Amino acid sequence: MKREVIIACDFKCKEELFSFLSPFSTMPFLKIGMELFYKEGPELIKQLKQMGCKIFLDLKLHDIPNTVEKAMKNIAELEVELTNVHAAGGIEMMKAAKRGLDSIPAGKHTKLIAVTQLTSISQETLEKELCISLSLQEVVYQYASNAKSAGLDGVVCSALEVPLLKDLQIITVTPGIRFAENSSHDQKRVATPKDARMLGSTYIVVGRSITSADDPVAAYERCVKEFC
Ligand code: C5P
Repeated sequence: MKREVIIACDFKCKEELFSFLSPFSTMPFLKIGMELFYKEGPELIKQLKQMGCKIFLDLKLHDIPNTVEKAMKNIAELEVELTNVHAAGGIEMMKAAKRGLDSIPAGKHTKLIAVTQLTSISQETLEKELCISLSLQEVVYQYASNAKSAGLDGVVCSALEVPLLKDLQIITVTPGIRFAENSSHDQKRVATPKDARMLGSTYIVVGRSITSADDPVAAYERCVKEFC
């Protein structure tokens, strides 16, 4: 599968997003998350699709299977390239999400992935707050196997964990990407675009390293050059 860079568009409103996009000569693959979606709603997704953007709709659903199935049916209508759930919701919930997506023809185009563990979670948080005594790597592997057995296309994980998942042969979407000289902010499990390529990620998700750069187009092009 072709490697691609996805820009995490964590902006307050669509005006900020459009001003960020204005210097780009071709529309990049965008990740629209909760912040923008809860403010602007599905209309924004329709508008971006008309502008020719590929979309990863990152809403990380996590609820009872029936609710997730119905929510996914609505997401299917948006015909985005990628969307996701939390693997922590369990195999039944992930199967329900897939059913919801596949229940209308438009949804068959959308790839469904599961978040294994957020890249902001450390081993210490896993043990002390989430009360999970396994290692982060073991949890990521088990959750990724669950996602695969539920029929999902892949997972969201740190690039550092991609080699562990090789035998599962699934898509890996990896946030927590930083240039070597940048701060890691709240992310704990980070890698550079070049590392992510060597580790085997399918897609990298890059937010602040591009959106807060002095020259976002140059930062994006640097990611493409290092990763693709
Ligand atoms: O700015 P930064 O590059 O850290 O942004 C990463 C993006 O990826 C954010 O939008 C965040 O919500 C998302 N994400 C993540 N870790 C996951 C799943 C999604 O950081 N496991």
